[in-house]
Amino acid sequence: MCGIVGCILKDEKAAPVLLDCVKKLEYRGYDSIGIATSSSKINIKKEKGKISEAEKKVGLSDLPGNMGIAHVRWATHGIPTRKNAHPHTDCTEKIAVVHNGIIENYNELKHQLIEEGHIFKSDTDTEVIPHLIEKYMSNGMDLESSVRNSLDQIHGSYALAVISTDEPEKIVGVRKESPLIVGKGEGKYFLASDVPAILKHTDNVIYLEDGEMVILDKSGVTVKNMLGEIIEKEIHIIEWTPDMAEKGGFDHFMIKEIHEQPGAVRDTLLESQDIEKIVSEFGDIERICFVACGTSYHASLIGKYLFESLMGLPTDVILASEFKYSAKAMNDKTLVIFISQSGETADTLKALRMAKKTSETLVVVNVLGSTATREAKHVIYTRAGPEIGVAATKTYVSQLTCIYILAAHMSNRLDLVDDLHKVPQYMSDVLANEEHIHNIAKKYKDVPDFFFIGRGLSYPTALEGALKLKEITYIHGEGYAAGELKHGPLALIDDGVPVVAVVPPGNSHDKTLSNVEEVRARGAHVISVGSQDDEILKSESHDLMGMDGEIDEIMSPISYIVPLQLFAYYISVEKGIDPDKPKNLAKCVTVE
Ligand code: G6P
Repeated sequence: MCGIVGCILKDEKAAPVLLDCVKKLEYRGYDSIGIATSSSKINIKKEKGKISEAEKKVGLSDLPGNMGIAHVRWATHGIPTRKNAHPHTDCTEKIAVVHNGIIENYNELKHQLIEEGHIFKSDTDTEVIPHLIEKYMSNGMDLESSVRNSLDQIHGSYALAVISTDEPEKIVGVRKESPLIVGKGEGKYFLASDVPAILKHTDNVIYLEDGEMVILDKSGVTVKNMLGEIIEKEIHIIEWTPDMAEKGGFDHFMIKEIHEQPGAVRDTLLESQDIEKIVSEFGDIERICFVACGTSYHASLIGKYLFESLMGLPTDVILASEFKYSAKAMNDKTLVIFISQSGETADTLKALRMAKKTSETLVVVNVLGSTATREAKHVIYTRAGPEIGVAATKTYVSQLTCIYILAAHMSNRLDLVDDLHKVPQYMSDVLANEEHIHNIAKKYKDVPDFFFIGRGLSYPTALEGALKLKEITYIHGEGYAAGELKHGPLALIDDGVPVVAVVPPGNSHDKTLSNVEEVRARGAHVISVGSQDDEILKSESHDLMGMDGEIDEIMSPISYIVPLQLFAYYISVEKGIDPDKPKNLAKCVTVE
């Protein structure tokens, strides 16, 4: 959360370039935006709100100088206001800092600095950093050593970019537990929280590790460790094109990404051979444990149903933020699988570091070079391409594709891989009919509460459908195992309460249908996702989101989520909400 950028250009003005770069990071936070450039002094523009609103208010790109730093914020300490927006400065306004992460001991440091005479202007944890740097620089230390000494006093996580007018034409960046990459273009140098920010300018990228510092100046890029020793770093050439991070004619990234899902599944299927090789390297496994957050957690739940039904292998799914309470139950016969589109989620990384002490670890991740890929024993890449919409869509179906391939190879059910090749077409069929779902969305857009129900493999689909609705429409959506509804929530079913039922043909069909009848009998409005040929379901439903009748239950999760994503998207649009940037959320949560 929070996105940071820094750049040093040859002759060009930095502010417009910084603004353009930081717009690509808005998925990481959009509470406020700020830019600082260095000319003879530090020039700052910052404002509360999304970049487009702030730009109209204060004209962000109108700053002199050809180097600078920028930030988009997802508030942790201090409410989203102009004064809490980054960059933050020291007392002399000669030093400016942008920060992604959390300074855990900031209270103690702040009191100490105030006692020493420093004056604070914000409520953020970040502001202690420029004041600490000021303290060291005023004692005659250079910028680089001052940053190093300041960090010695800080507990917490950070990706930082720092500039100072005492050493103009230099940016110091450093990372610990928050992502930071370096871009090496022709006579222009960048640092950023994520690759899409700089893709337009260079595809040559260096991934920094924790405890590494980068110094950008007009002559290039130097990476050092915290002892100040130079480290040789590999330059990676990024295959994603700048266009992949653009809207390409769609109104929002989310709908573009929903439409990219058939391609994402097809591309991820190309990983099948690599996955087969990884499976052959697994040791003796007696138990599988999935660990993830949010949408990735729902993909993991589908993994549980698959592994248990195909192999009878005991499989648990643990929320990453809860993992530490179960860590003692892991051993060398447990394979711990981490699912994360970003590979940077703090809860997931913490759990990964814990799990690798006892167990074999595998990550399924979308972002090349992300921290998780460097920490786990095995890595599988989902080939979804960059996902900008905050609510995950194409990364989810790509994760599912990987999990299915993994399960197919582990259980020797290669027919499942063949069946996966049919899934993109099932998805395209739904997309071709999206106006039907838009019309259903219009009918229900003003309803305050929804239930989503499903059994077995369709239960996680119900949970994910409810999550999409909550995330981007702010409507309360509750996902339930269809059979569990009668044990409590049925008390909430009344005339007109919408119940979205996921009812593919197969084993669970008849039992879910009985649950549909139970809610209908109490006045619920049933919106079902099921086979377009299912006449009984049709007669029980007020609205049917019809799927190809060929899709059997085991393959249903990957394509059955598509109508539910579209349903949430169109309600969001009908309500005038920006589905790409839902309030209070961020795509990548790098705090615990
Ligand atoms: C955030 C995002 C969710 C995402 C979750 C896990 O909360 O808003 O969309 O599912 O993080 O992210 P990960 O990158 O680990 O899959």
